[in-house]
Formats: sequence, C-alpha cells, structure tokens
Amino acid sequence: METITCAKPTFLKLEQLTESQFNKLSKYIFENYGIKMPEEKKIILQCRLQKRLRELQIDSFKDYIDYVFSSDGQSKEVSHMIDVVSTNKTDFYREADHFKLLADNVLYELSSCPEFHEPMKIWSAGCSSGEEAYTIAFTIEEFHAKNHYFDYTIYGSDISFRIIKQAIEAIYREDKTTAIPMEIKRKYLLRSKDRNNPTVRVKPNIRNKIIFSRQNLMEEKYSIPDYLDIIFCRNVLIYFNRQTQEKVLNKLINKLKEGGYLFLGHSESITSMDLPLSRIKTTVFKKI
Ligand SMILES: C[S@@+](CC[C@H](N)C(=O)[O-])C[C@H]1O[C@@H](n2cnc3c(N)ncnc32)[C@H](O)[C@@H]1O
Repeated sequence: METITCAKPTFLKLEQLTESQFNKLSKYIFENYGIKMPEEKKIILQCRLQKRLRELQIDSFKDYIDYVFSSDGQSKEVSHMIDVVSTNKTDFYREADHFKLLADNVLYELSSCPEFHEPMKIWSAGCSSGEEAYTIAFTIEEFHAKNHYFDYTIYGSDISFRIIKQAIEAIYREDKTTAIPMEIKRKYLLRSKDRNNPTVRVKPNIRNKIIFSRQNLMEEKYSIPDYLDIIFCRNVLIYFNRQTQEKVLNKLINKLKEGGYLFLGHSESITSMDLPLSRIKTTVFKKI
C-alpha cells in the first residue's frame, strides 16, 4: 500500500486536479506508456504533480497541462511526468530463486549449447535503478569462477530517465544492500569512506558489462539487439492491462532467440495468452 503524503505548498494554493484534467492525463499516460491510471490514482497524481508545479513555478493544472501537450512540453516535460507516475521499487536479489535457477541451470545450458555465440546477451527490461541488472552480472561472474568463461553483455532499460541515471551511477545506500551475500559485496562493490552517509558503488569491471538506455516498452520497435539469450521483465507488466501485457510480451519474445529464457515477476501470469513459450517454472519460460 502506497503512503500518500501531500505537503502543502508555501506560495501556491492547493490546486485540485479536476475530473476532466485527470482523465486527459491518465488517458495520455495509458495510451503512450501502458501505465494504468484508475480513478484511485487521482490523489496520488495530484499530490505528486503539485510538487512538480511548484518546481516549475506554474500555478494551475490548466497551465501545466497546456505545457505538457505543447511541443516544448512534449520534449521537455513528459519524461518528468512519467517519473512521477512510475513505481520503481526494486532490490538486489529480488525474487532470489530466479538467480539460483540462472546459476544452477540456465547459464550452463545456454553457454554449452553448440549453437551458442558469444557474447551472451541479456536484457533487464524495466530495470529501475539497476539492482536487477547488477544482480544478473554478479551471478554470471560467480558462474565463471566455478564453471567456464564466456563473454556477456547486459542491456538495462527503463522508461524513466531519472532512474536510468541512478542505474548508470550504480551508487546505493548501504542499507539497500543487505540481500547481497558478504563475499559478493567484497568482490564486486566498493564502500564509500563517508561513514555519515554509507554507500557502496558497483566496481567498474561490472558496470562496464551493462549498457543502460531509456526504452518505452509501448514503442513499436526496441533499440535492443535481436537474438537475446535471456530477458528479465519482472514487475513491469503488472502496471499494464491484459491486452497491453500480451502485446508487449509478443514484442519481447520476438527479441528472444529460440530456446532463450524469459523471466517474469512472481505476481505476473501469462495464463490464457497465446504465446510461443513453454513453462519451466511458474514465472520462467523458454521460447519454442
Ligand atoms: C517495480 S519496477 C521493477 C524493477 C525490476 N524489474 C524488479 O523487478 O525489481 C517497474 C519498472 O518498470 C518501469 N516501467 C513502467 N512502464 C514502463 C514502460 N512502458 N516501458 C519501460 N519501463 C516501464 C518503471 O519505470 C519501473 O522502474
């Protein structure tokens, strides 16, 4: 459950988002970014945009909406508005059984296949601030140490510029790293010297394995290479309706090579969708 704190602005009277203004914005966000904006989200959107109005020194939602739909606003403001509505919750080793399956089965199977071509290509689609992509990299590095080496590239993408910037920086508060085993921390993370603000940073050799970019999964074409070995698209589809989920899944599957793996979030389901996938585990699929 999201807590809504709506601080009262100092110089602005509390602007209310009218029903028709909310409908206009929610329709635009849904049609272009797939994110469902039901009526219950009105207050959240209103609160978050009030903050944005203050930053821009715009004092009515009418003026803000005119700006968003102007050509200037389309290039400059829409991405900020999407930052406001997207939910970026993530963690290192989130849904940890996926990384165990990757380490114990998937990496070996794919890299030992006679048709395997290096580099192995993995996409973390909807990667948020990068924890998922870095966890994949740690898992591959550990696999190399115990099994055999292969080159790899990870693509991390998200709709939010703000969050992609954080992913590229790869700096995390130390209390956000509790799920990372100590020996992995020692090998792949650097600790800040500032004990008042303890942070860690992913080491450059790992950062260099990941290419982050902004990518809207609603777009017709994705600027990610074809014939991917593995796609992680976890806890992203839940924000879309069924029809959009199926459309996006078809496009993701087109990017996968035959025999490639797709990992979805634990609360996401493809039941009753007609997709060229065979189920390996509840939320893990293989392209057929
Ligand atoms: C809850 S996070 C999941 C992060 C990570 N995959 C995980 O499971 O921990 C969902 C991410 O999907 C992104 N997202 C939402 N709609 C998107 C879209 N249309 N295209 C690309 N990314 C999107 C959000 O910005 C957010 O960072």
